[in-house]
Order: sequence, then structure tokens, then C-alpha cells
Amino acid sequence: MVSFGSSVFLVLFVYLHCLSLISVRVLAQTSPVFACDAPKNPQVASFGFCDSSLGTDARVADLVKRLTLQEKITFLVNGAGSVSRLGIPKYEWWSEALHGVSNAGPGTKFTGLIPGATSFPQVITTAASFNTSLFVAIGRVVSTEARAMYNVGQAGLTYWSPNINIFRDPRWGRGQETPGEDPLLSSKYGSSYVKGLQQTDGGDPSRLKVAACCKHYTAYDLDNWKGVDRFLFNAVVTQQDMDDTFQPPFKSCVVDGNVASVMCSYNQVNGKPTCADPDLLAGVIRGQWKLNGYIVSDCDSVDVLYKNQHYTKTPEEAAAKAILAGLDLNCGSFLGQHTEAAVKGGLLNESAIDKAITNNFATLMRLGFFDGDPSKQPYGKLGPKDVCTPEHQELAREAARQGIVLLKNKAGSLPLSPTAIKMLAVIGPNANVTKTMIGNYEGIPCKYTTPLQGLTTSVATTYVPGCTNVACGTAQGRRC
Ligand SMILES: *[C@@H]1O[C@H](CO)[C@@H](O)[C@H](O)[C@H]1NC(C)=O
Ligand SMILES: *[C@@H]1O[C@H](CO)[C@@H](O)[C@H](O)[C@H]1NC(C)=O
Ligand SMILES: *[C@@H]1O[C@H](CO)[C@@H](O)[C@H](O)[C@H]1NC(C)=O
Repeated sequence: MVSFGSSVFLVLFVYLHCLSLISVRVLAQTSPVFACDAPKNPQVASFGFCDSSLGTDARVADLVKRLTLQEKITFLVNGAGSVSRLGIPKYEWWSEALHGVSNAGPGTKFTGLIPGATSFPQVITTAASFNTSLFVAIGRVVSTEARAMYNVGQAGLTYWSPNINIFRDPRWGRGQETPGEDPLLSSKYGSSYVKGLQQTDGGDPSRLKVAACCKHYTAYDLDNWKGVDRFLFNAVVTQQDMDDTFQPPFKSCVVDGNVASVMCSYNQVNGKPTCADPDLLAGVIRGQWKLNGYIVSDCDSVDVLYKNQHYTKTPEEAAAKAILAGLDLNCGSFLGQHTEAAVKGGLLNESAIDKAITNNFATLMRLGFFDGDPSKQPYGKLGPKDVCTPEHQELAREAARQGIVLLKNKAGSLPLSPTAIKMLAVIGPNANVTKTMIGNYEGIPCKYTTPLQGLTTSVATTYVPGCTNVACGTAQGRRC
């Protein structure tokens, strides 16, 4: 009896669960998320923050003054809250677009209408072209595809890319995400890619095509080395090295690129966690460089500075210190959990929260999030037909052509000549793989081509892996 009853329950549960999944998926695939939907919520027409004839500052001020403290706090985290009485839906801030629209963040999904996006070379390759107009062109294509995906409910408007950390130590496992070791090239790459992502076609700086984010601020090029890891290390950096090496890409990103966001890192710089350092955030980014946008933490870095670094005694103190230092948005849930108690405990005034959410809302406002139906706005006509177009695919190939560096071409082996070459030996464990070759912070590409498949279209090939993996502990294979 009991087991019969529970199996019936189980069947029903699975059935209901599937139904809700299906309805969520259908919605998620086809409609963008936005506020101020007057046809659906007639009362929004009376809200100042929905009135696009007003200036951004006035609209944001109108919105902030309508919110309770508890509501305000839900807008301090990446999985932001909703306020149905004001017609504000949930918004997921975390999307990624390092070298093409990526599904590395929860805000972007490849399904149904748009199953893949144009995948550009990893940044270390693109940067090796030294071509700033290429960096801008790639950014434009990525933001066009991002907007197209947003319009069908598959992506957000806020992208936490590029990564412009200086790749000073080649043992850092994330070097391929960056433009390399040179502060000048990293500066040019960051500001150019950001311009391509953000710039509206009309060049109107008060609006954004998508919002980019330069990360991870700052002195962060270490992952895990001899027991020292990225969450805990204290980068001891002289003022000269800060000014010559680590800060220039971030400065250029904000000052020249007019980026809408900077992400602070996990590590400490000279004994202070970057996300709780008022000199680095409020002082430099907002004060000296005049950031027009929001400062976001790396994921859970406020939690890390409390729990793992023991920088503060209580979680409330960590929340207060981060917000007072100039942090506006927390990737993670920490500020959602501890900010109210910080206010109640007198560590933080509500006005500091107002300041933070003002920066967040102002960014969404520049993206058109509060302007009602996106299909009636600039970029509203972009859709599946604008993703993976032949032009976009060709730009990805062009970036590879311009960026790939041949160390030696003495005998004129390249370009490959189908007549001169009778048989090309292709050797290596990754020569015929797909996903590995598109790097990290990747999306799902429009199509996969392995190096072997690509070469085989030009010349006859013979292939041996040589080793089972790149560590190459045991050589294997046959003579070719
Ligand atoms: C830079 O890239 C653009 C876009 O692909 C291209 O038109 C231009 O010729 C390149 N410039 C140089 C100097 O190679
Ligand atoms: C909160 O505001 C009051 C009044 O302006 C001020 O005296 C106090 O220092 C503020 N507290 C914090 C933690 O900023
Ligand atoms: C290369 O990979 C493709 C796809 O997995 C496979 O069909 C093909 O047989 C492989 N080629 C060789 C020579 O191993």
C-alpha cells in the first residue's frame, strides 16, 4: 500500500515537474526580460522611471525612492529581485562574452531558436594581431549576436568580459583569456573590444548596445601555485609596478573605452581585499577614472574576504566594508543575506545602498531595460537570422589569420600548396578534437571544425595522436 501510494505520487510529481519545465523553457526561449511593459501593466505609465523622456538620473532617483530597504537589497546581487507592484521582473546580471557569446554565466543559454554563436579565437591569439580595428570589429559582432539572443530570451544585456589581467607569469593557467603580458597592448585590446561591444550604431554614449566589464581588478594573475591560491593571496605590489603594469589596462578600459563596469578580484593587494578597498574602488575607479557604471565583485568574493581571508570579524562588517568601499553589485548572495543586518547594526546607512543600486539601475537604463518592449527599440529587430551569419564566421576566420603566429616559414611551407605537398603529417593529441580547441569561457560555436578536418580540406593528411593527452606521459602511435 505504502509503496503503491508513493509510486503514484512519484509519477504525478514527475509529470508536474515536466510541465513546469516545459512552460519555463518556452517562455525563456522566446521573450526578452524587461521592465515598464505598459500594454501588460497599464499602471507603469504613471511611473517616472518608465518615462524615457526624462534624464537617466531623474528616472533612477524616481525608482530608488519607490523601493523599501528589503527591495533595495535584492538589487545588490547578480540574481536580482523582482518588484511586481512596479512591473520590474527578475534580471540575471551574469553573462559572459570573452571571445563570442558564451554560456559560462547563468544569464545566457543556447537552446531552441539559437543553438550556437560565432566563436572567435581565444583572446591571446586575437591580441597577437596588434590590430585595434579588428578588436572593435569583433566586439561589434559579439554584441550584435548578444542582442539577438537577448531578444529571444536567451541572453542578458550585461557581459562580464573582457579579462585584461596582465599575463606576467606564464604558469598562470588563464593566460589564454587575456591579451598577454604587455600593458600597452592589453590597454588597447581592452578599450577597443569594449567600444565594439558597447557602442550604439549612432555612437550615442548615453546608451549602451550591451554593457561590458573589465576584470579582474587588480594584480590578479595567479591561480594556484605551491599552495597559494587566487582566493587568498596577497599581491604585494609597489606603487610603480601598479602604475606601470597592473593598472594601465583598467585605466584605459574606463577612461578610453568608457566601460560600464569593472569587476574587483578575490585577492588582496598590499593587505586589503580589492573588493573592500575604498582607495582602489571609490578612490581610483570612480574618483580618478570617473567610471560611468557599476562595480561588481568576482563571484562570492565578499564571502571569501570574510570566510576565507578573515578580513572582518562578522559577515555584516564585510558587507558594510565592501559597499562603503564602492562595490555596487555582488556576484553571489552574500550582500543579499547580510546587508540588512549591517544597516540595522549601524555599520551602514541606507544612503550607501541607494548609491550602489543607483549605479546598477543607471546601467540597465542605458541598455533600454526600462524603456518597455525591446522590439520597438534600437536592436529590437535583431534575431536568430543575425547569429552565425557568413560575415560573422568570416570575421572569426580573419581574426585567426591575423593572429596566428608562425615561428618559422623558411621553406615557404605556408600557405599550404596542394600541389607541392603530397601528404601532410598532422601529429598531436588535440589535432582532431573540438571542444578543447575553442578554449574556456566559450560558447557553443555555430559549427565545430577540428584542426585535422580544416587541414584535410586543403591537402591530403595522415594523422597520429602521438600521445593520449598533452601531458604526454607515454608516447604512442605509428610511424607515418
Ligand atoms: C585589421 O583588421 C581589419 C578587420 O579585419 C582589416 O580590415 C585590416 O586590414 C586590418 N589591418 C591590418 C593593418 O592588418
Ligand atoms: C550614517 O549617517 C549619519 C548621518 O548622516 C552619519 O553621522 C553616520 O556617520 C553614517 N554612518 C555610517 C556608517 O556611514
Ligand atoms: C576525427 O574526428 C572525427 C569526429 O570525431 C572522426 O569522425 C574522424 O574519424 C577522426 N579522424 C581521424 C583520422 O581520427
